[in-house]
Amino acid sequence: MLDVVAIDGPAGTGKSTVAGQLARRVGAHYLDTGAMYRAATLAVLRAGVDPADDAAAAPVVEAADIRVSVGDDGDTVACLDGVDVSREIRTDEVTAAVSAVSANPVVREKLVALQRLHAVDDFLVVEGRDIGTVVFPTAALKVYLTATPEARAERRHRQNLAAGRASDLDEVLASVNRRDHLDSTRAVSPLRPADDAVHVDTSDLTLQQVLDRLTELVGERIGVR
Ligand code: DC
Repeated sequence: MLDVVAIDGPAGTGKSTVAGQLARRVGAHYLDTGAMYRAATLAVLRAGVDPADDAAAAPVVEAADIRVSVGDDGDTVACLDGVDVSREIRTDEVTAAVSAVSANPVVREKLVALQRLHAVDDFLVVEGRDIGTVVFPTAALKVYLTATPEARAERRHRQNLAAGRASDLDEVLASVNRRDHLDSTRAVSPLRPADDAVHVDTSDLTLQQVLDRLTELVGERIGVR
């Protein structure tokens, strides 16, 4: 039987790290759906198309071969037309354009269908924004990770500095707030918790504490597999 753990929530809650490590802990496959929207956005930018022009962006994404998997180190590997673009999809340029591309209904339709194809694996941890509400509404466990905008901006800021990227905390906070607003007010699949999601506020929790809480929830809802 297919068991899905859906992990949704806004950017900067530690979602990717938590979801990837949880999958390893419980022996599930891991799917980072944000990487798919980022790869689609990269395709649009490379085609020289305005990310907000839905009619022009749709055929570019429809023609793109987007594949997301997990590398030996546990990190997400994203391929666009057969080429590894795992680094390119994390640039500021892609991050700035991804909300527009992910609001495109044609893009969402294609990527949701691709995400559901991963259900051939029988135990999946899937991370995104609409996993518990749209992609896998019957998931055995739905988690909605939250954190205050300030805590999320602080984390992103520290990640930037650690990676040697210039970073301004006020600018990062403004970008977090802007992306939250765009993601939660878009017409198609806006970011919102599923009615039956368990809310976990990570503002004052360490990664280990979040992982322990989620492992406990997996044990309760799915059991040891
Ligand atoms: O989690 P992330 O920052 O890599 O996601 C990138 C963008 O993709 C984010 O702005 C929202 C969008 N996204 C989405 O609309 N639906 C998903 N299931 C996953 C991500």
